[in-house]
Amino acid sequence: MRDNLEIMLQSACSALTSAETEAQLREVRVQFLGKKGELTAIMKGMRDLSAEERPLVGDLANRVKDTVESLFEERLALLVQADIARRLELERIDVTLPGRATNSGSFHPISIVTDEIVKIFSGMGFGVAEGPEVEKDFYNFEALNVGKDHPARDMQDTFYISDDVVLRTHTSPVQIRTMMEQPPPVRVLAPGTVYRRDSDLTHSPMFHQIEGFLVDERVTFGDLKGVLTRFLREFFGDDLGVRFRPSFFPFTEPSAEVDIQCVICSGQGCRVCKQTGWLEILGCGMIDPEVFKAVNYDSEKYSGFAFGMGLERMAMLKYGVNDLRLFFESDLRFLRQF
Ligand code: PHE
Repeated sequence: MRDNLEIMLQSACSALTSAETEAQLREVRVQFLGKKGELTAIMKGMRDLSAEERPLVGDLANRVKDTVESLFEERLALLVQADIARRLELERIDVTLPGRATNSGSFHPISIVTDEIVKIFSGMGFGVAEGPEVEKDFYNFEALNVGKDHPARDMQDTFYISDDVVLRTHTSPVQIRTMMEQPPPVRVLAPGTVYRRDSDLTHSPMFHQIEGFLVDERVTFGDLKGVLTRFLREFFGDDLGVRFRPSFFPFTEPSAEVDIQCVICSGQGCRVCKQTGWLEILGCGMIDPEVFKAVNYDSEKYSGFAFGMGLERMAMLKYGVNDLRLFFESDLRFLRQF
């Protein structure tokens, strides 16, 4: 029995020393000291011992047990320590590292300008409407008093999808769609994408406009001047010079073009305003009775005005951008500046 105990002690010690994980260590302990373990098995031989020998062997067994137990504790402490050290190393965080910047997007300048214009006009009671970019000839031309032989329909200017379907050349068809849907009074702003067969330094085949129109009883050209002047001064600055020049559009009568004092040279004369001190900024006029006829409005009872402007041009003047193409190239170095 003594020999068995000694042998067991030996193998328990070497098993404990070579255990590499806490789980292995605990298994070894159960294997030797557990209820069904080796020590228990050896101790079954106690009943065959003589009375003198029993306490001596018992004593030895206790020492063997204590030795295994304390080696177990020692190894356990060591393994736990090593485990903590390993995890500290593995999960180490360098709090002095600089943070990773998140890449946040920004609004496109055309969107910014659109939002700002919509905001200014909504302060004057205008709501927003939209229409399709692929448009019927009827809405884009016919109902706007642009007859079949009008030069604006020329293949030079218009992208035709079929004989009577076009890519809209302006946002004015939204006037027709809105008025056919609701009776006066209306106060509507219609931002959107438009297309023309035009491409050079200052023209893009795809660009953006904002249309505005108002119809009610007793609306006058004075109202038109007041609303547009108010808008332009809010958008470009308080004491901006504004002038109205007679012009022509098939869908307005009388018609005008609006110039603002050159925002680059403050009216002194420069390359941008071609030394005139003025910049053409939008087209407008009193809605033509022919248009009212097409949408079934009573032109004896109602009158109204309409205007349209190019958003790229507004953005270029507002931000001092001198190349139209920058708006469509998706160059982040440009777009991040807004
Ligand atoms: N639709 C015209 C254009 O594209 C602008 C305009 C709109 C003029 C409304 C008068 C009234 O040039």
